Amino acid sequence: MSTGIITASYIGASALFIMALGGLKHQESARRGNLYGMLGMGLALLVTIVGLVSQNHFLLIVGIVAGGAIGWYLAKKVEMTQMPELVAVLHSLVGLAAVFVGWANALDHSSAAQTSVEQTIHAAETYIGILIGALTFSGSICAYLKLAAKISGKPLQLPGRHLFNAGLGLLAIWFGVEYVAAVPDGGIGWLVLMTLIALVFGVHMVVAIGGADMPVVVSMLNSYSGWAAAAMGFMLGNDLLIVVGALVGSSGAILSYIMCKAMNRKFLNVILGGFGNKSSGGAGSAGPAGSEDDIKPIQAEEAADLMANAKEVMILPGYGMAVAQAQHTVFEISKKLKEKGVNVRFGIHPVAGRMPGHMNVLLAEAKVPYDIVYEMDEINEDFPKVDVSVVIGANDIVNPAAQEVPDSPIAGMPVLEPWNGKTTIVLKRGMSTGYAGVDNPLFYKDNTRMLFGDAKDSVDAILKHLSE
Ligand code: TAP
Repeated sequence: MSTGIITASYIGASALFIMALGGLKHQESARRGNLYGMLGMGLALLVTIVGLVSQNHFLLIVGIVAGGAIGWYLAKKVEMTQMPELVAVLHSLVGLAAVFVGWANALDHSSAAQTSVEQTIHAAETYIGILIGALTFSGSICAYLKLAAKISGKPLQLPGRHLFNAGLGLLAIWFGVEYVAAVPDGGIGWLVLMTLIALVFGVHMVVAIGGADMPVVVSMLNSYSGWAAAAMGFMLGNDLLIVVGALVGSSGAILSYIMCKAMNRKFLNVILGGFGNKSSGGAGSAGPAGSEDDIKPIQAEEAADLMANAKEVMILPGYGMAVAQAQHTVFEISKKLKEKGVNVRFGIHPVAGRMPGHMNVLLAEAKVPYDIVYEMDEINEDFPKVDVSVVIGANDIVNPAAQEVPDSPIAGMPVLEPWNGKTTIVLKRGMSTGYAGVDNPLFYKDNTRMLFGDAKDSVDAILKHLSE
C-alpha cells in the first residue's frame, strides 16, 4: 500500500474520531458518534494491518480475535453500574501496552536512530512513554479494585505523602537524565528503576483518593491513557496514534475539569494529583442531619395523588434508580402524568449515578424524550415553581449540606435544589447515606416526604395507583 493512501486513510480516521467526539456531545447524536468512532477505528486497523504490518500476521490475527472476543463478552456482560470499573480496566490495558511498546523500543537496537540528537529524542520519548504507561497501568488497576470494592474505597493518606510523591518525581527526573545519557550503549537499569517508581506512584496516587473523588480519578486516568497512547505514537513514529492519543488525553482532561466543577474540586489540584484534602468524600458524615421525629413517611397511593394533582413535577434520578432499574416504569409514570395535564420534567445532575452521563443513558434506554430532560444548571432556578419533586434513589446530588454546612465533605458541590419547591418525595430504601458518606438534611425538611422501599417496587406501586 502506498504511503499516500496510508496517510490519506489516517487523516480520514482522525476526522472520523473527531466527528465521533462531536457526536457524543448530545444524546440525539450519540449513536451516530459511536458509529463514526467504530468506522474510524475499523479504517485505522485495516490500513495499519494491510499497509504497514509486514510479518507475524498470524500472531496479529490471533491477538485481534482474542481481544475482540474478550471485549465483546465484557461489553455484553457488564452492568451499567459497573461501567466505571470496566473503563478503569481498559485504561490499565492502554497503560500496559505503552509500557510494552516502550520496553520493546528500548531493547530493540535495530531501529536505533542515526544521529545522536535523534537518539536522545527517541530515548526521551521511550522513557516518558513507559513512565506515563506504568503509572496509568498501576493507577487504573488500583482504581478498578476500589470501584469494585475489592479493596477499601476509603482514601489511604500516608503521612508525608506529598513529600513522598515529590521524591518519586525527582527520582524519575534523575533516572530519566541518566537513561538518556546512557543510550544507546546501556541505561536499561535506569529504565527498570523508573518503571518500578512509576508503578508505585500510580498506586500511591490512587489509594490516597476515595469516595466522591473517584469519578475524577477515572476520567483523569482516561486522560493519562490518552497521553500514554500519544507517547506510543511518538515511539512508533505513527501519526494516527499521536492524534488519537492527544484527542483522548485532552478530552479526558476536559471531562475531568467539568467533573471537578460539578463536584467543586480544584482542577489544578487534580492535574497535579493533589487530592485528598478536607473535601475527599468517603470520610463519613458527622452524624444524622436531623431527628427521627422529623422524618415524614408517605405511601405510594398518597405520592401518586400528590403527583397527579400537581401542575409541575420534576423527577430527579440518582444511583438508586440505576440499581433498581426503575427507569422504564418512571417513564410510564411521566406519560400517565402528562395525560393528566401535568408538566413533567427530568433534572440531571452532572455526577448523578456512577459515571458521566449515567442518568442520560438510562433515560435514553427507557426512551424518555430528550426535550423533557434538563441539566442541573437549566432547571435549578425553576424549583420554586415546582409542585412535586420526585427524588428517585438520589442522595448526594440533592444534599443541601453542600450549601449549608461549611465543613461538610461535599461543601461547595453544586446540587439540585428540590427543597425550594412545594413538596419533595424521596424514594429510597432506608436512611443510608449516599456515595460520599454524608447524611442528608433534605430528608428531615418540613416539605419532604420519604417513600421507603426499593425504587422499582415504589414506582410500580405509584404507576398502579395512577392507572386506577
Ligand atoms: P448516591 O449519593 O450514591 O445515593 C444513592 C442512594 O440511592 C443511596 O442513598 C441509597 O439509599 C439509594 N438506593 C440504592 N439502591 C436503591 C434501590 N434499589 N432503591 C431505592 N434507593 C436505592 O447517588 P447520587 O445522588 O446519584 O450521587 C452520585 C454520587 O456518586 C456522588 O457522590 C458522585 O460524586 C458519586 N460518583 C459519581 C460518579 C459519576 S461520574 N456520575 C462516579 C462515581 C461516583 P438507600 O440505601 O437508603 O436505599
